[in-house]
Amino acid sequence: MKDKILSALKNSDNYISGEILSRSLGITRSAVWKNICQLRQEGYIIDSVTNKGYRLQKDCNMIDTDKVMKDLHCDNIGKKLIILKSTDSTNNEIKKIAALGEESGTVVTAETQTSGRGRFGRQWSSDKGGLYFSILLRTDLPPSNIAAITLAAGYAVCLAVREYTGLDARIKWPNDIIVENRKICGILTEIAAQSDSIDYIIIGIGININNTEFPDEIKHKASSIHLETNKNIDKSDFFRTVLIYLDKVISSFLISISIDDMSSFKRICATIGREVSVKRGDTVLTGIAKDITPLGELVIETENTREIKISSGEVTVQGIY
Ligand code: BTN
Repeated sequence: MKDKILSALKNSDNYISGEILSRSLGITRSAVWKNICQLRQEGYIIDSVTNKGYRLQKDCNMIDTDKVMKDLHCDNIGKKLIILKSTDSTNNEIKKIAALGEESGTVVTAETQTSGRGRFGRQWSSDKGGLYFSILLRTDLPPSNIAAITLAAGYAVCLAVREYTGLDARIKWPNDIIVENRKICGILTEIAAQSDSIDYIIIGIGININNTEFPDEIKHKASSIHLETNKNIDKSDFFRTVLIYLDKVISSFLISISIDDMSSFKRICATIGREVSVKRGDTVLTGIAKDITPLGELVIETENTREIKISSGEVTVQGIY
């Protein structure tokens, strides 16, 4: 009954009287009121005005399953979507459900994370404005393809941001998405492996959407889609676009084991052609980023014209961060 009331409120921009709700749903007005109280406890903001009735305040940061899944026909990614209010980390949620046999392609998202993880053991700031989700992928790809599949995921997100917002989103190798040289998205891929084979892959994606504040240490290099467009973005609607691109790009990656349109990928990769520094243990390698291989490695030409391929690492790109 609660869901029916919620759906009636969602479908109306105006107030709906308690009487209309009670008549159309065949319940008493006090039952309507009890359900409204439950919805409020779940976080929905519902105004009630005497002689007018109830109206749902549309919260663009809430993830609405119906909106995300509407006419979504995914082959792999997003066949099943689990939405949580809050969790420690959506990557951890995937680990738990993978151990229980969850199928490949399932996506877990949470409106907030209490211990969101970034690369290199960093924290990922996860307030209500952002989109945080993880994908479970069961595949028999060899571990050497993990870097490329992460790149494919970043490419898909970048295309979704470009289509949905019109922003000039670019890829900072290996897996950051930037707009105007500031980071709006990061990806953390983790694998569960048994000696020489992969059990499953978790692709964890964090996108700054309506976020307006960031921790001091990343303030100078972080941004959000809202800050770049000056618009409030509907998280559910945007998420739908992201899932469509992820399903398309990753499904074809799983068939051809490469990003289908590598030249388009390279065009929107901000790293190629710039001077880069890569931290490798205690040493720093500097050179010009020349290319990206089908395996997703960055080809760097160093001062003594040696070409070196790197598959991961912390990269600083001159003029970006
Ligand atoms: C990075 O750029 O350092 C990677 C950030 C990855 C953050 C996402 S948010 C969803 C998923 N859950 C996590 O705990 N981390 C990833």
